[in-house]
Amino acid sequence: MMKNITLYVNGDKKELFVPSHKMLLDVIREDLHLTGTNKGCDSGDCGACIVILDGKSVNSCLVLAVDADGKELLTIEGLGNQEGLHPLQQAFMEKGAVQCGFCTSGMIMASKALLDNNPLPTEEEVRTALTGNLCRCTGYISIVEAVLSVPVEGGK
Ligand code: FES
Ligand code: FES
Repeated sequence: MMKNITLYVNGDKKELFVPSHKMLLDVIREDLHLTGTNKGCDSGDCGACIVILDGKSVNSCLVLAVDADGKELLTIEGLGNQEGLHPLQQAFMEKGAVQCGFCTSGMIMASKALLDNNPLPTEEEVRTALTGNLCRCTGYISIVEAVLSVPVEGGK
């Protein structure tokens, strides 16, 4: 069955007609053409697909698009661009927290959700917030350093 849904994507209202079984991740990538959100495991284990939905970080591979109807969706494309990076993006670059980059958008979105609720997290709180994000390259130290280095006013 197909359904009409409305998503508020990075500040823009989008009307979509989607199969009721289609996952939000696939709608983001295939219908909205926002490919910064990655598909790794497609089963909730890797965090590569994390986006912020109504202020909370979610694994978009586990959310039905129809269940996101009417909600605010923030993806990595809503944070910054090459002309004006978000402070988290800048920090990840400066700390060498990006290698292959496959995990990076999910890491940054999960980190943003953390900083939005807790602008001055401890190292333990950062590590806890990122337990659902797998990285095969960095060893996590540079990622945690990057999140901790973001200025309070820049975390939002
Ligand atoms: S693709 Fe969603 S958690 Fe891995
Ligand atoms: S930078 Fe390669 S998986 Fe994290």
